Amino acid sequence: MSFRINPAVKLLARILGSELLHATWLRLLKYLPLEFESPKDLEVETKMGRLKNPLGLAAGYDKSGKYVKALSKLGFGYIVVGSFTLNPRKGHPKPRIAYREAEQAVVNAMGLPNPGIMKFLKNFKRVEGCKVVASITGNTINEFVECFAALQKVVDAVEVNISCPTNEASTYMKEPKNLREFVEMLKGIKLKPAYIKIPPPTTSEEMNEMCKLVKVWMDCGMDGVTAVNTLLVDAPELALGRGGLSGRPLTRIMLETVREIRKELGEEIEINAVGGIMTGADALEALRAGANTVQIMTAMLFRGPRAPQHILNELVSIKAF
Ligand SMILES: Cc1cc2nc3c(=O)[nH]c(=O)nc-3n(C[C@H](O)[C@H](O)[C@H](O)COP(=O)(O)O)c2cc1C
Repeated sequence: MSFRINPAVKLLARILGSELLHATWLRLLKYLPLEFESPKDLEVETKMGRLKNPLGLAAGYDKSGKYVKALSKLGFGYIVVGSFTLNPRKGHPKPRIAYREAEQAVVNAMGLPNPGIMKFLKNFKRVEGCKVVASITGNTINEFVECFAALQKVVDAVEVNISCPTNEASTYMKEPKNLREFVEMLKGIKLKPAYIKIPPPTTSEEMNEMCKLVKVWMDCGMDGVTAVNTLLVDAPELALGRGGLSGRPLTRIMLETVREIRKELGEEIEINAVGGIMTGADALEALRAGANTVQIMTAMLFRGPRAPQHILNELVSIKAF
């Protein structure tokens, strides 16, 4: 199945710029009749509690955490907000996001713009029937620990993003020694489930390294993994000249990563699959590969706000066969 961006959306993006369009869209969302009741037989039990369905909205769509209520009406079982840092961040220069329609992909070098944890804590309101996960990131181990400690008080779980490909500082945690130091500090304060978000491994060496890293994480009493973040590619259309690729090119890598982690780490680890899940068939394949939940981001950009509705309906109809 191939998806085209709505021509009206393309035109508006050209006039307003993709980011202003996205911000305006998020503000309007609560006024639109897009409510969708999740199909009944999709409930799943996770370490963050029972979800009405396994479909989550991936980090990066609601970077401020202000739109959880409106987004929850679209049918998601859970929503990841952020990624947040201790202090506000402006991110990289624009243009920093572009569609690659032929590839069914997006390339972005947002650079983690966000309002900082204090603003999020001030504005955040919980919603009925939809779990919320806060994604955190940072430049030092202490920053990660402070963000974790503050945000776990208000959300259902925390996702630790060590894999933004255009923010090298946040990826120093890919060193097992640094990760161990961080998790040792976390152990004493952790009250909520913690997931580590990893980059997409593209070679068998990288896959082995990632499995080792996730083992360190799980050996220290953490709960699961979110696999995968975007893939670093050249992007002459962006100001930075490089960016993170998402969407269809990630599907195969995501599936291989989920399969390998499930095989290497066993049943205890919870796996949130993300990367190139565009349809219900993709979601089902990820779940069959060993994922407990699935998340979408690029599918929202290509298929629009009814993406969760379409994906959940597709999932139900193929599961029935
Ligand atoms: C515009 C954009 C912004 C993103 N921002 C974040 C972010 O702040 N934190 C994060 O962990 N992942 C971020 N991501 C990565 C997504 O959460 C997801 O891992 C990735 O896009 C792969 O999923 P997809 O193929 O469904 O898009 C972002 C992705 C895009 C396209």
